[in-house]
Amino acid sequence: MSWTTKPSATQKIPTRTEPYLTAAMKDRYERELIPRYATRHGALMPILHDIQHEHRHIPYQAMLEIAAFLKITPAEVLDTATFYEEYSVHERGTCVIGICQSIACEVCDHKKLVDHVRGKLGIEPHETTDDGKFTLLTLECLGSCDTAPVALFNETLHEKLTVEKLDQLIEEAKHSSGEHH
Ligand code: FES
Repeated sequence: MSWTTKPSATQKIPTRTEPYLTAAMKDRYERELIPRYATRHGALMPILHDIQHEHRHIPYQAMLEIAAFLKITPAEVLDTATFYEEYSVHERGTCVIGICQSIACEVCDHKKLVDHVRGKLGIEPHETTDDGKFTLLTLECLGSCDTAPVALFNETLHEKLTVEKLDQLIEEAKHSSGEHH
């Protein structure tokens, strides 16, 4: 990883007129989500989950809206949105391939799988293909060590994965218009 400089002071934050947190969503969160937590801040992660799921990333405007709604600072929302692998501030592909890189999968040659995606799709971990179809992630233990190596294709876990099976899943995803495989 290398340091890159960003023109943060002059950078324009993309905005849209339609809010990311609609009145209906806020209403539902007030009724169903907020009461489950001791503080409004507690509802941050499930709300981020919804936004990530719907928009494949957490747009800056959404962070501001969430901060206002939960009465916390935008920096607190940004901290959480950038800390957890589940969220991304950059738009991810419609198919997110998350290969487990923790010890059991590492021993079972997860690297071969990562290298296959690299070679086939021309992306490094945390990159997205130019057509917006695929994002490659390397993830920590997915809790399925006894069936290593494993990978998630969006939210579906694939166990005892081989290069051949991975290749087949990528081909299927290429030809599918849906978001889940
Ligand atoms: S190490 Fe990969 S699932 Fe646990």
